[in-house]
Amino acid sequence: MNERKLNNIIASAEKARAGAYAPYSEFAVGAALLAEDGQIFAGANLENASSSLTICAERVAVFTAVSAGYYRFLALAVTADSPEPVFPCGSCRQVLWELAGDIQIIAANLEHKIIITPLSNILPHPFVTTKISSPQRYFGR
Ligand code: THU
Repeated sequence: MNERKLNNIIASAEKARAGAYAPYSEFAVGAALLAEDGQIFAGANLENASSSLTICAERVAVFTAVSAGYYRFLALAVTADSPEPVFPCGSCRQVLWELAGDIQIIAANLEHKIIITPLSNILPHPFVTTKISSPQRYFGR
């Protein structure tokens, strides 16, 4: 990915972060998922007083994209105000694996410290069961 595209997807994640609803943790996260055709789907974390119902920014982004009919992706950027770049949590890694495949994960913080690594590198043994396990197969496309 070239510098311009990289900056663009990180900027989308930063912009999405402004939409976080994080009154409990006060930790706003933004994510942006880049589809093969260049479309970007963004999301922010949305918390709930019943804390287990909180949803991470990465899942908001990928659920939005897949429910819009997208299933071919290149990369996901995630950003937050933290000393080190933030990576998707374990649950999001599993969801991303099934819905987005082995995309590049761009972990960033607001100082633009960036780490880029394939999803397979941070989720070495994903849980997969049936022969479906991807929207591509499920929708038969
Ligand atoms: N969070 C994300 O949005 N993405 C992650 O990968 C890890 C955590 C959110 C969930 C919660 O709203 C807040 O960060 C603190 O855990």
